Formats: sequence, C-alpha cells, structure tokens
Amino acid sequence: MRSVVLGVSAGIAVYKACELLRLFTESGHDVRVVPTRDALRFVGEPTWAALSGNPVTTEVWDSVHEVPHVRIGQHADLVVVAPATADVLARAAHGLANDLLTNTLLTARCPVVFAPAMHTEMWEHPATRANVATLRERGSIVVDPAVGRLTGADSGPGRLPDPAEIFEVCRRVLTGRAPDLAGRHVVISAGGTREAIDPVRFIGNRSSGLQGYALARTAVARGAEVTLVSANVALPDPAGAKVVRVETAVDLREAVVSAAAHADAVVMAAAVADFRPSRQSGTKIKKSSAEPDPIHLVKNPDVLAELGEIRREGIAPSPRVIVGFAAETDDVLANGRAKLERKGCDLLVVNQVGENLAFGTPDNAAVVLVAGGDPVEIPRGPKEDLADVVWDLVASRLA
Ligand code: CTP
Repeated sequence: MRSVVLGVSAGIAVYKACELLRLFTESGHDVRVVPTRDALRFVGEPTWAALSGNPVTTEVWDSVHEVPHVRIGQHADLVVVAPATADVLARAAHGLANDLLTNTLLTARCPVVFAPAMHTEMWEHPATRANVATLRERGSIVVDPAVGRLTGADSGPGRLPDPAEIFEVCRRVLTGRAPDLAGRHVVISAGGTREAIDPVRFIGNRSSGLQGYALARTAVARGAEVTLVSANVALPDPAGAKVVRVETAVDLREAVVSAAAHADAVVMAAAVADFRPSRQSGTKIKKSSAEPDPIHLVKNPDVLAELGEIRREGIAPSPRVIVGFAAETDDVLANGRAKLERKGCDLLVVNQVGENLAFGTPDNAAVVLVAGGDPVEIPRGPKEDLADVVWDLVASRLA
C-alpha cells in the first residue's frame, strides 16, 4: 500500500479534491489529508476524515507526541497538493513552515505534485510564475491549470483539471519514472483532422486521439511542459497540458508550426488528411440535384515534412527531436524506413493497422524506427507504455 499525502489549500475547487481522494482510496492507497486552515471553510474536517479513514489536522500542535510535522512528510511516497493556491505555491517556494502542510512539504523527500487552481490574474502574476519556476527547478511537478470557467462568470487558465486526470499524473509519478522531461517543452498533435465538404459534412478519419493523449499524460508526469494540438478528439483534457483545438489540416499546421519554434520536441501522432475538397459549398448540398458533383481534392500541407525542412534549412528555431507516426497496412518496415527519410524525422513510430490495433483501442503495438540507429520493437500493450518508450528515446536524444 502506498502512502499519499493529499494537501488541500483554500480555493473553490476544494470540492474536486474529495473525488481525487476517493480515487486514491479506492485504488488501495493510504491517504492522509492535510488541509490548510482556510481550506476547511470550503470542506470541513469530518468529510476528509470519513473519506480518508485517517485523522485530519491543519496544525503542528495536535498529537505532538507523534511529531506529525516531520513524520507525515517522511513517510509519504507521494505528496500531491490539489488545489494549490497562489499562497501555498509561494510558501512552498520560499520554504516557509507555518502550518502542517508546509512543514510536510519541507520534510518530504518523495515526489511532489502541485495542481494549482486560482484566478487567471493570480496564475499569470510574475510572483506566481517565479514561484512555479522555482518549484519546478527543484524537481516538483507543477501541473498547469486547465482553461475554462472559473469561480464566477469569468473564464481563462486557472481551473483545477479533472480529478481523474490529476490522479493519472500521480499514478504515473508513483510508478517511479524520473521527471526526466522537466524543463522541456514538447508539442504533441493528436486526433484526426476534418476537411469540410459543406456546413454539415466532412472528410475525416478513424483516429480517436487515444495515443496522442497518452503521450501528453505521460509527458506531464515526466515533468514536461506540454502543448497538445488536438484535432476533433472526444476525450477529457489531460491534466497539465495546454490544449489547442483545431479542426482542419491547415489549422493544425498553423498551431504545430508556431508551437514548434519554442519546443524541444514535437511528436506528430495526429492523423492529418492528405487532401481536402478544393471548394466548400456554403450551403448544405441537397440530394435533389440529379447527378451529384464529384468532390475535387487538393493537397494539404505535410506538417511533419515541413518541420523537417524548417530544421534542415535552418529557416526558424526548431525542435531538437521530431517524431512521426505512420500507420501502414503492408510492407510495414520498408514503407516506414522510406517515410522516416522522406520526412526528415528522428524517430518514426510505425503501427500495423488491423487485428484490433491502432484506431480507437486502448492497446497498441509498434516498431520505432530510429534515424541512424536500430529499430525498437514495442510489444502489444497499453498506449501509455508505448508513449513511455517514445519519451525514453526522446529524453535520451535531448540529454
Ligand atoms: N502527416 C503530416 N501532414 C500530413 C500527413 C501526415 O504531418 N498532411 C504526419 C502524420 O502526423 C504522421 C506522419 O506524417 O506523423 C505520417 O503520416 P502518414 O499518413 O502515414 O504518411 P503520408 O505522408 O500520408 O504517407 P502515405 O499516405 O504515402 O502513407
């Protein structure tokens, strides 16, 4: 049984921490909840005690004979603070120890995850930015807040991510991978583009976005700053990733190329349409016309090839590692090797399509072709495992 400390500080999102606590206890973790004094104004001590099955206190002066201000941190396998207010981030960054939670943060030697939630102005304030940078430099994982509706009518970055997604980050951290992508910015494209025929119809593909989202989740858990360019995906936003939504190949190109200029690595997991209709009907095409007009297609930009070319020609700042994906139905290795070279990427993850693999399934199997190296086989398994192998290869190239 792993010991988890759930630190809770005073924000309206405290109610979501109850669900996070449930996810930990239901998966067999022993959780000690350490709220700040003001957090109890939102959700009271009995709720935390009943849900965790452990005593709850905010002060270092209760049960002093057990030396709680030292013991709780020393015995934890993980400390997660959710929600983390601007005040708690500041106190943690400066090493203050004026309540049980900040004492615990100072004595813990295990991984620490902060899930901040606050108003956008507070999140973007230079003081908070500096505190977050300090905490990250020291090896803590700070999960960027989600963008969306805040306490009142306002919205922006500052929302606590979905508890299930925060839990997923913690679960990954507990499995023991080092935060080897800390300080790195990675861009991931996911899902499948849609090319409009008329206002209600499009040409699309079967990509669910599961592999790209698994790449985003695992990168956050390994400490990366993640920009996820998401094309038509119906999945919850991975906690800590900045999600940019796009629809078409042209939108996706714009989002990926601009984010890539500030990135250490780009992983193109999206299924990008190679062609789009040369013209879109402004109104719904009616079946009353005797013979339907054929749909004439034009070529879309090849984003992966463009990234490779920008880097080769030195046109703009470029990521050090570029990763492509390829779905092949036949001659998998030969086609993959040719594609790796044609697109100028460093790694190409080649999937064999079929046998319930690749599209819309939680499992995947692949071989990663490595420019100037031997291929790496990834046996059938969860898309998260495949993602970790990709990040292992990326991290070793960045090191
Ligand atoms: N890709 C891209 N832009 C496109 C098409 C594909 O950036 N217009 C990227 C995909 O995100 C993926 C890789 O290129 O990482 C390979 O995609 P794939 O469809 O297998 O390659 P194609 O170039 O379309 O080759 P082909 O259709 O000949 O197999």
